Amino acid sequence: MKKDSHIHWYPGHIAKAERQLKEKLNLCDVVIEVLDARIPFSSIYNNIETLLGGKPRLVLLNKADLVDRNELKEFVEKIKSSSKMPVMVTDAKNSKDLQIIVKEVLKLAEPRIQAIMAKGLLRRPARVMVVGMPNVGKSSVINKLTKSSKTKIGAKAGVTRQQQWVRINKDIDLLDTPGIIPMRQDNQEAATKLAFVNSVSENAYDNETVAQKLLDILARKYSEQLKEYYKVDELTLEKIAISRNWITSGSEADIERTATSVLKYFRDGKLGQFILDELI
Ligand code: G4P
Repeated sequence: MKKDSHIHWYPGHIAKAERQLKEKLNLCDVVIEVLDARIPFSSIYNNIETLLGGKPRLVLLNKADLVDRNELKEFVEKIKSSSKMPVMVTDAKNSKDLQIIVKEVLKLAEPRIQAIMAKGLLRRPARVMVVGMPNVGKSSVINKLTKSSKTKIGAKAGVTRQQQWVRINKDIDLLDTPGIIPMRQDNQEAATKLAFVNSVSENAYDNETVAQKLLDILARKYSEQLKEYYKVDELTLEKIAISRNWITSGSEADIERTATSVLKYFRDGKLGQFILDELI
């Protein structure tokens, strides 16, 4: 485990992910970009516009069940105005289906389909893929969208053989594997927030440092609520360990166990509903 406070990136992994993503992007008309509603800004990839080559995208603020939807509204507006793209709020884990987003995707794809038809070609279904950082819920979104349609279309001419498409309805084909956005994030605060939501490999950071940072950031907005929850007067791992009676055999506060517990409870939404980014 690394004992410094930085999130470490692996350039080789990033380059490979970027290559794979670009290969898939070339095949698509529209992208569904999934963000984590707990970190609406920090889960946006800095270079998203360049990466997508200007393709239209529907932005989903997913895991909305883990935040207060009223608090989220202003974030939705900010992202709408800065991206100039439609933004929707989703809970891919608990929703019955995500058909509400299908209509929006079709609207975004229509100009591209019209352009194809203007060249004298026949109308074809829009090709769509889901992208986002690790663990934001990309696969869950795909699963919900494909639930009612099990029509695998398979490889088509000009389409890489291993890419599998699923026909959602007569107007949409969805790539059945997500595009993982390369993870390098130079802003260390945003990177740390990605670690909070399990979007960064655990090998890249030190659990105890990250858990304490989570408490520090939560304390900015939700201090009283958390102090009450943990029955402490200050949000430190040590105080929480003592309050919970998590003590090592050497009679010291068990910081490691506390760090693991704080991160897990936060990730599972058991500490409460929190948005960790600030409206600027
Ligand atoms: P990914 O493809 O972007 O990596 O994410 P994936 O869909 O695999 O989802 C990652 C985890 O987040 C999964 O939990 C999934 O259930 C959960 N998840 C996805 N969407 C939502 C959401 O809207 N709300 C909540 N609360 N959770 C969501 P897991 O613990 O890995 O698996 P499990 O809970 O499905 O057992």
